[in-house]
Amino acid sequence: MMYQPHRPKDDLERGICRYITRYQEAIMYHASHFHIKSRACAEWELEEGQDFRILQLTDSHFGFGPLSKKPDEETKHAIRFLVRRARPDLVIFTGDMIFPFLPKSGTLDNRRQAECFTEFMDSLGVPYALALGNHDAEQFSFCSRRELVYVFQRGKNCIILPGPFEISGDANYFINLVQGGVPVLALAILDTHMYAGRNFFSGFDCIHEDQTAWTMTQLDQIRAKNPDAQALAFFHMPLPEYKSAYKRMKMGDPSIQYHFGSVLEENEYFGISSSPCPFFWEAKRNGMIKGMFCGHDHLNTISLTFEGIRLTYGMSLDFQAYRDIRKKYTQRGGDLIIRKADGRLLIKPVPLGPVVSTTVKGR
Ligand SMILES: [Fe+2]
Ligand SMILES: [Fe+2]
Repeated sequence: MMYQPHRPKDDLERGICRYITRYQEAIMYHASHFHIKSRACAEWELEEGQDFRILQLTDSHFGFGPLSKKPDEETKHAIRFLVRRARPDLVIFTGDMIFPFLPKSGTLDNRRQAECFTEFMDSLGVPYALALGNHDAEQFSFCSRRELVYVFQRGKNCIILPGPFEISGDANYFINLVQGGVPVLALAILDTHMYAGRNFFSGFDCIHEDQTAWTMTQLDQIRAKNPDAQALAFFHMPLPEYKSAYKRMKMGDPSIQYHFGSVLEENEYFGISSSPCPFFWEAKRNGMIKGMFCGHDHLNTISLTFEGIRLTYGMSLDFQAYRDIRKKYTQRGGDLIIRKADGRLLIKPVPLGPVVSTTVKGR
């Protein structure tokens, strides 16, 4: 049976959605080539010979409040520019789309922020899929992360699915690119949650074991239909392997291939979880995932290949969350992923400014 995105009845019955009575009618992206198959899976039918272009954007941190008018306008301008330049078939945001943080945006109303976000993105005329970040439903904000999924679903070009109930997190879902009904590229959009403890200072969370097992099962099912199918994963917080690969590369490990970008967070910081995170090595064992894309650390933009998997930090859009970030520019932009009609995957930065930082300290 087809998924009915118009009735988040199951969530209502579980008492999860306190605020969504206005949001029972989901809208989301509609097109003849796009089909929602379940609460965790959609399919996108590719035309014969079609290259598919994905623009990864991340960490827009829209405030839509009294304190964020200027950075919001700058962010909108940046997104318009990047979409025009990259000409994507699909935009994928890897979290922190909005920023309900009182000292920066002047509001905790993330419901309104999500509405303003979809209104703006809908005006661009390109479909956009969303992964949740740690700030979208920041502490004390009005809507929970699950509620936000249904608010975002009001966007007419938005793609966000709630994901299975049985596993941790919200908005764990797949968009499978298919050709003649056969899957060729699976886009796994996953939740890295928020914090390991109660708040920001307790460290970050990651993709849990049950999400990992679920993702691998989905991939196995896709491979059963097409042994040559590939996959990419999109999520907010980096995996620990981003850091270990970077450190090993700097130590001179020749197996790690550097592509572009930098680690410009202070003291080469990586916002990774200190909890065990099995996702990378399970993905390596599974073999289908060829690339992973995260955001979260706004000054890290590096892209490298580790154990056959391309790990990329998306260039960020932040104009306000980090102090003085407006004055910086080498980290700001997006990343373009092109699946060529012959199956090749190309990944390149789409900087907002004239320069892509390629400084790797001590290398
Ligand atoms: Fe962020
Ligand atoms: Fe974040």
